Amino acid sequence: MRVCVVGSGGREHALAHVLGRHHDVVVTPGNPGIEGSVPTPPEELEADLTVIGPEAPLVAGLADRLRSVGRLVFGPGADGARLEGSKAWMKDVLVDAGVPTAGHGTFDDEVAALAYLDTMGDLFVVKTDGLAAGKGVLVTTDRTEAVDAVRSYLSGDAFGDAGRTLVIEEGLTGPELSILAICDGSTAVALAPAQDFKRFGDGDDGPNTGGMGAYSPVPVATEAVVGSLMAEAVEPTLAALRGRGIDYRGVLYCGLMFTPSGPRVLEYNVRFGDPEAQVVLPRLTSDLGELLAAAAAGRLGPEPTFDDGAAVTVVCASEGYPTSPRTGDRIWGLDAAAQVAGVTVFVAGVGAGSDCALVTAGGRVLTVTGRGPTVDEARHRAYEAVAEISWPGMCHRTDIAAAPTGD
Ligand code: AMP
Ligand code: GLY
Repeated sequence: MRVCVVGSGGREHALAHVLGRHHDVVVTPGNPGIEGSVPTPPEELEADLTVIGPEAPLVAGLADRLRSVGRLVFGPGADGARLEGSKAWMKDVLVDAGVPTAGHGTFDDEVAALAYLDTMGDLFVVKTDGLAAGKGVLVTTDRTEAVDAVRSYLSGDAFGDAGRTLVIEEGLTGPELSILAICDGSTAVALAPAQDFKRFGDGDDGPNTGGMGAYSPVPVATEAVVGSLMAEAVEPTLAALRGRGIDYRGVLYCGLMFTPSGPRVLEYNVRFGDPEAQVVLPRLTSDLGELLAAAAAGRLGPEPTFDDGAAVTVVCASEGYPTSPRTGDRIWGLDAAAQVAGVTVFVAGVGAGSDCALVTAGGRVLTVTGRGPTVDEARHRAYEAVAEISWPGMCHRTDIAAAPTGD
């Protein structure tokens, strides 16, 4: 099968890498570090299956446009992608579906928003309604910071139109889990669970980012736990979407927190997690292309299978990420990193330098995935490879998967 992957990040590199085990893959637009990248728009590429990676083209209706000309597409239409495009709408769907989630209010008025903030406990959570590249969520114990966020979101100063409506949520605490469910419109199957590290700094310090690392499997997420999360969260959500006439064929990424009162869904995304994809997909032992094509055709078949080992990925980011990443620095050591046993480097924010070497071109520049029989061994390999890579100002966390949840 010829598969077209749409996107240009580490997630798309991982998709292309794992799809490439069984299929011909073309990536658009990709980046200079992903083999098979072409500048041709997806509408003009011939493919038996198109897999859309990022949320923005999904929200903008790319899947609908491709389906309208008869293409087989993995990724929801604009109607389903609204789950990620509007947090306020997502919360409505969750409440309708009876899925446990944080208490919340939706606001476009400052006075009402600040009054609601005063009803919150010690932890304030303010989210843009619209897309903000994973950066529109503030979780803080500092009320002044929360008030400033409410003002700068609503005025449009912080995130433009994405923040003119915002969601304030009850602050929850507990370990998090990401479940990536492959959906065919009426049924869903979970991939191996992963845990993401959202804060920039070691010890979960610093601002929220798109994700600074991840690992899979997660000890606390046993088969029984994942089964009940599918039954209590993912399946009712899919049914609620169907009830709204939405035929959801794509990934439903369920971000959960295990709170003292039980699991709560924090968010849905309509795409594979990044960097979760870089640890979940490499562990797949069955054919990813067949799985995604079956979901896209509306008839999921045999369950996907995973190896018994572990994978850990570490994000290497530019100085200044997540606010104002410095770019244009030459990246050294990629070949040496790729030679570490069990390691794959997935490139994201990279460009081509004058001598064809890769240079930094974004915030999250690359993710280094180590695989091994245990999380500890996979982690060791990933960090051994990270130590080979350098550019001025390169940043990464040093504690990814250092203490897997539930161990
Ligand atoms: P989201 O994009 O909505 O998942 O939020 C990004 C991150 O912010 C989550 O992974 C959590 O770490 C944190 N977060 C989101 N919502 C809450 C909440 N209600 N309480 C505590 N932390 C939260
Ligand atoms: N790693 C979090 C996300 O993909 O949204």
